[in-house]
Amino acid sequence: MRLNQKLQAVWESATVALADRVRELKAEGKHVIALQTGDPDFPTPEPIVEAAYQALKDGLTHYSNSRGLPELREAISQKLFQEHGVHYDPGAEILVTSGGVHAYFCALNAILSLGEEVLVPDPAWMTHSNVITLLGGKAKHVPSEPENDFWPKVDAWEESVSPKTVALVINSPNNPTGSVATEDYLRKVVDFANRHDLHIISDEVYNAILFDSQRHVCMASFPEARDRILLVNSFSKTYAMTGWRIGYLAAPAAIVSQALKASQHTITNVSPFVQKAALCALNDADVAAAVSKMVARYQQRRDMALKILKERSRVGIDVVKSKGAFYLFLDIRKLGMPSNTFAKRLLDEALISTVPGSVYGVCGEGFLRVTTATSEEVIEAGIQGLLDWADSQEWGN
Ligand SMILES: Cc1ncc(COP(=O)(O)O)c(C=O)c1O
Repeated sequence: MRLNQKLQAVWESATVALADRVRELKAEGKHVIALQTGDPDFPTPEPIVEAAYQALKDGLTHYSNSRGLPELREAISQKLFQEHGVHYDPGAEILVTSGGVHAYFCALNAILSLGEEVLVPDPAWMTHSNVITLLGGKAKHVPSEPENDFWPKVDAWEESVSPKTVALVINSPNNPTGSVATEDYLRKVVDFANRHDLHIISDEVYNAILFDSQRHVCMASFPEARDRILLVNSFSKTYAMTGWRIGYLAAPAAIVSQALKASQHTITNVSPFVQKAALCALNDADVAAAVSKMVARYQQRRDMALKILKERSRVGIDVVKSKGAFYLFLDIRKLGMPSNTFAKRLLDEALISTVPGSVYGVCGEGFLRVTTATSEEVIEAGIQGLLDWADSQEWGN
C-alpha cells in the first residue's frame, strides 16, 4: 500500500493512545485510576454554555469569517493588552483557530518550508515535534536538565542551531514539567533568537494556571522580539473547554495571512456558536471567578499530592514542586526502571495510568507525568496506589 513516507516518522500521540487504553480497560469493567489526562475535570463554566446555547438558538450555525468573528478577535486583542501590555491588531494580527494545536499547526505552516529545522526543548509536549515532522521539517531537540527546571541553557540552544533553523518553540508554563520560565531566562531566549534571526513560537496555553506568586511573562512583551513571536493560546485549559476546540494565534500580519490559508483549507472557520461561547469566556465576570477557583483547586491538589509523596515515599520517588499548569513530574530516577516500563506495569498490575516521561523526549526519561486535573479523591487514591505498588517491588538500589 502506498503511504505518506513523512507520516512514518510521526508517532501516534502517546497520551491519546493511553487514554484510549484506559477507556478499553474501563469498558472491560476494570476500575482504572486515571492520572494521565490533560483535560480539566471541571465542567465548562455555566455562562459559557449558556452563551453557546443562545448562539445556537440565534442561528449561528453557518459558515462565518475565516479569521474569526470580529468581536472575538477584538476581545482577544483587548485581553492581550490588558494582561500583558501587548498590541495586536484584531483586523490583521489575530486568527481564531480550532484549539491551541491548530493554532500551532497554522503557525508552523506559515513559516516552515520543507527540510527546514525548528528547535524544540527536550522534554516537550510531543505534538510540538510531531507537527514539524508532519510538515516536512526537522525537529531538533535541545537538551535540558532537571537542575535548571528543564529549561535548555543558552549553550544548548547555540549548539543546536544551524543555517537551516527557522524557529524555536517555547512553552511556559510547561507541559509536562510544570515549570514556569523566568523573565530573565526568556530574555536570554529572545537574545538568542535575535542573534540567529529565528521566529519564536510561544505556546502559552497554560498561562492562567500559575501557583504561589508565579508570574507569566508573555513572550510578545519583549518589544525587541515582537515581530518574531507567534503566540499560540487556547480556551481549553483556562476555561475547561477542551471539547469546544477553540484557540488563537497572534502574530504579525504577514504571518497571520499565511496561517489563514492553512486554516481556511483545513477547517474553513471555527464554529460561530463556539466563538460566541469563547467571547463570553473572555468577558464574563462569573467566568473569571470560576477560573480563579479552578486554579486554586489545582494548587491545593498539587500541595496534597506533594504532601503524600513526601510523607510516604520510602523507595525514593522525588517530586519537583510545579509552578504552573496541572501536572506533577515525578522523579523515579533512583529506582532505575525505565519510565515506560514503570508506567506500563503500574497500569497492568495496579490499574493506575500515568504518562512515562520518555514520551516527551530523552531528557524526560526517569520521570513520570501525573495530572492534577482530576478529583482530589482520584489523585489521593492514585498516588497512594502508586506508592503501594512501588513499595511492593524489589528495587536494586
Ligand atoms: C503545551 C500544550 N500546547 C497546546 C495544547 C493544545 O490544546 P488545545 O488544542 O486543546 O487547545 C496542549 C494540550 O494538551 C498542550 O499541553
